[in-house]
Amino acid sequence: MDYKIHDIGLAEQGARQLEWSEMHMPALMEMRKDFASRKPLRGLRIAAVLHVTKETGVLARALKDAGAEVFLAGSNPLSTQDDVAAALVKDGISVFAWRGQSDKDYYENMEKVLAAKPDIIMDDGADLHAAIHSKYPDLKIIGGTEETTTGVTRLKALEKSGKLRYPIIAVNNAKTKYLFDNRYGTGQSTIDGILRATNILIAGKCSVVVGYGWVGRGIAMRLRGHGASVIITEVDPFRALEAVMDGFEVMPMEKASEKGDLFITATGNRSVITKEDMLRMKNGAILCNSGHFDIEIDVQALEKEAKAKREIRNNTVEYDINGRKIYLLASGRLVNLGAAEGHPSEVMDLSFCNQALSAVYIAENSNLPPKVYDVFQEIDEKVARQKLLSINIEIDKLTDAQKKYMSEWETGT
Ligand code: NAD
Ligand code: ADE
Repeated sequence: MDYKIHDIGLAEQGARQLEWSEMHMPALMEMRKDFASRKPLRGLRIAAVLHVTKETGVLARALKDAGAEVFLAGSNPLSTQDDVAAALVKDGISVFAWRGQSDKDYYENMEKVLAAKPDIIMDDGADLHAAIHSKYPDLKIIGGTEETTTGVTRLKALEKSGKLRYPIIAVNNAKTKYLFDNRYGTGQSTIDGILRATNILIAGKCSVVVGYGWVGRGIAMRLRGHGASVIITEVDPFRALEAVMDGFEVMPMEKASEKGDLFITATGNRSVITKEDMLRMKNGAILCNSGHFDIEIDVQALEKEAKAKREIRNNTVEYDINGRKIYLLASGRLVNLGAAEGHPSEVMDLSFCNQALSAVYIAENSNLPPKVYDVFQEIDEKVARQKLLSINIEIDKLTDAQKKYMSEWETGT
């Protein structure tokens, strides 16, 4: 079996991490039992580019139990948990990832999972789908999935160009994904990353959240919970209005840049904090990103502008700009995965049930036309119900009279 990881000696520690996640991913564990008896992915090869975390490890084990051969590469140079990678290799999963890999290694590892000639592609950010479409015209893929907002945006552009070659299920667009992973998952894990990197007191800080989408909302909510004042910057008038009515201050970055102690980007867009913004910031301002790629903060401009630079703590780099200090966390990459462990298992339980069931759907419906599909309603609902069941929450059922009332127009005042 081919693999490339940091240290196979970490496998025992990684196995304990996986055990911990399994304890906190009850819905996926229940599905795994069904997969193990039915083997719906028997004989299929899955190439996955995902953050190699303990939660992804549980997903990889579930896919293997379903009968698939799994080839896994990391979806960010900083997010791999080396002990988990080692444990997965011991489980017979081909992993090509280690923490701190270069961009060159990142792309080489992607090539490695494609060399396995996969049938199904699982991606987080769409780099793997993009590589297949630009460099592998002969690879026959049944279909794929995509984990995150940025990946779905890219794939919709590919679909629009008429060049999409296989069906892709946008896992991100399941309600049981974005309402929980993007909001509560990123809300908590972003704060976790900031605290592990800086150990600052959030209470009393003026924080600026860039983007009030699902991720931005979660971060803003949790910052407020810690006692920070929160400013939102937005370009979408509806989301800006929502932020106002949620009780946040909203203003353009030009103004917010002068006020903030802590800046967090969450837009999926490029250069939302520019050189000019950084030049206006206070001495001691802390900058980090929770959007998928490291393009949101203009790190190149920061590097160019700085007279000096030094690592002051793990994942915290100080830049000296004309005597003012600006601090960048996790190199401007996803702070929740670079400086912490990503979302907690309880949330990834939902996201990865969607991934697993979508892969099975693709295996069982191999003639879908090449389009970007939302997760099918029955899968989304199955995941929600399974999760409720696993945490012992019961809900009511519509009565027949209620169903009838909700389906007719005649009855009014
Ligand atoms: P979203 O589309 O719901 O929200 C993005 C928001 O950013 C939108 O409201 C948009 O109007 C706003 N925006 C765009 N350009 C802007 C600008 N120049 N200034 C201010 N606001 C701007 O997307 P989302 O689901 O919240 O995801 C945001 C990013 O986070 C994506 O890159 C996504 O892939 C990533 N993501 C990261 C994690 C993680 O673990 N860190 C988890 C989920 C999603
Ligand atoms: N994305 C955010 N958190 C994650 C996690 N814990 N595992 C995999 N992908 C993630």
